[in-house]
Amino acid sequence: MDYAIEIHDLTVAFDRKPVLWNIDAHLPAGKLIGILGPNGAGKSTLIKTIMGLIPAGSGYVKIFGQPLKEVRKRVSYVPQRETIDWDFPVSVMDVALMGRYAHTGMFGKLRRADRDIALDALRKVGMEAFANRQIGRLSGGQQQRTFLARALAQRADLYLMDEPFAGVDAATEKAVITLLREMTTQGKTVLVVHHNLQSARQYFDHLLLLNTRLVACGPAPEVFTPDNLRDTYGGNLTLLTDVANLMHQEQHPVRENKLQQE
Ligand SMILES: Nc1ncnc2c1ncn2[C@@H]1O[C@H](COP(=O)(O)OP(=O)(O)O)[C@@H](O)[C@H]1O
Ligand SMILES: [Mg+2]
Repeated sequence: MDYAIEIHDLTVAFDRKPVLWNIDAHLPAGKLIGILGPNGAGKSTLIKTIMGLIPAGSGYVKIFGQPLKEVRKRVSYVPQRETIDWDFPVSVMDVALMGRYAHTGMFGKLRRADRDIALDALRKVGMEAFANRQIGRLSGGQQQRTFLARALAQRADLYLMDEPFAGVDAATEKAVITLLREMTTQGKTVLVVHHNLQSARQYFDHLLLLNTRLVACGPAPEVFTPDNLRDTYGGNLTLLTDVANLMHQEQHPVRENKLQQE
């Protein structure tokens, strides 16, 4: 089995308070992988630690069997939207082109081919018409799509996306998921922090359930169980309602089968 990411005994703490505790997980290459967990579960911290933006307290991460620094060009990161400075005076095209600097270096010269790739990425997320717009003057969904374009323009092998669908309309979300799925059929690995339980089940091949500790990690049908979800979300009332609905959905077909047998 080829792993895109191996996480070994990873612990991360802020001010001595552990935010990730002893995480061990192997994530297969070529899959669409969802990270689920409540607010404050450590999802963003996990992604940032994988990206080397936060130091591990103990343990380590390997990407494609190597330390990040060996494979950095092959890894693309889409941060959570709130963490981006939207007043920064750059255009949509500038942001998409940033995806190419992974290949040219920060002061490298962008070629015509780089522009074509950036434009193609903008086309894929439906942002071509906004290429010259300043990013501060976009809707939340458009801003998110612009940062997806930057990731696509990098043409990486592994994509780490932190809540890419926050503030994105349902139609765009569907289109982007289709696009990400297409990328996995070409061997790319896509890791997405996601907050909607209902859609998570349909979207992802593989799931990692997190709440400071790893609750479960594996193929979605095996991991997406009411018990695991309860362990992950604990006492969160609205989410427990979601879990109850999901349990109902699980039980419903069983009941129908029984009725048919009678
Ligand atoms: N830079 C930081 N300094 C101190 N605490 C932090 C920092 N970043 C995150 N935390 C804390 O770590 C926990 C996990 O945060 P985070 O990884 O952002 O969770 P999630 O993305 O799952 O909502 C939270 O309790 C948060 O307050
Ligand atoms: Mg987060």
